Amino acid sequence: MDTELGVLKSGKEADVHLVERALPAADQPDRSLDGNPAGEPPVAERRCLLAAKRYRPAEHRMFHRDAGYLEGRRVRRSREMRAMTGRTAFGRNLLAEQWAAAEFGALSRLWSVGAPVPYPAQRAGTEVMLEFLGDPDGTAAPRLAQLRPDPAQLADLWAQLAAALLTLAGEGLTHGDLSAYNLLVHRDRLVLIDLPQVVDVVANPRGAEFLHRDVHNIASWFAARGLPARLGGPDALLARLVTEAFRVG
Ligand SMILES: Nc1ncnc2c1ncn2[C@@H]1O[C@H](COP(=O)(O)OP(=O)(O)O)[C@@H](O)[C@H]1O
Ligand SMILES: [Mg+2]
Repeated sequence: MDTELGVLKSGKEADVHLVERALPAADQPDRSLDGNPAGEPPVAERRCLLAAKRYRPAEHRMFHRDAGYLEGRRVRRSREMRAMTGRTAFGRNLLAEQWAAAEFGALSRLWSVGAPVPYPAQRAGTEVMLEFLGDPDGTAAPRLAQLRPDPAQLADLWAQLAAALLTLAGEGLTHGDLSAYNLLVHRDRLVLIDLPQVVDVVANPRGAEFLHRDVHNIASWFAARGLPARLGGPDALLARLVTEAFRVG
């Protein structure tokens, strides 16, 4: 049973809602059959919090990520391609659905190779349901951009970031829209979010460009927060990521 608990964040392209999913005690298997003594209180409800990211059909403007990324993807049926480029209501909705499917696919793949991403629970239409990163009372984990880490925390977060990007590069991928707004810090653990536009560094004609941009964006945030260049400059990391992404076999 899903219960809507409100909006976590409203954006231009998607809204993120907080949802509680519960299995009411009455619907759980009857434990009295396997020796639960009579008179014991019923099994507690099982519940968890989820983040529901709902893409909205872009009304007036080009979805800012459509331009560069569509060229890397294959849309088989040309009627659908025409609808999307022609911005009909059908096309706009289809595009929102494609983004939801792309994000679910990217998260599933990255989760399965151990990258720090929220667990993707399901995708239905234009909605992706994710593991909620935050406290049981519904307070979401802060974005990296909101934090002012001390030098030791900053160095630790940079190390986590480098490890995460190397895991992506091992799959030939880069985030594609990496910034301190698309990284959450949940109990000292850095988590990558917002991945519908994940870029195949090798197959996408502009892949290397996106990788370069991702690394420079985030390295300048760390530099501005005071990470010493010897620990965190973009160049050494970029070189490792390129080597990893283009490694053969
Ligand atoms: N799994 C999650 N757990 C907690 N908060 C989340 C989660 N996913 C997204 N959020 C919150 O919603 C905001 C927007 O999500 P994001 O995926 O970046 O979408 P967009 O930037 O396209 O609106 C995030 O900055 C974060 O605050
Ligand atoms: Mg975002």
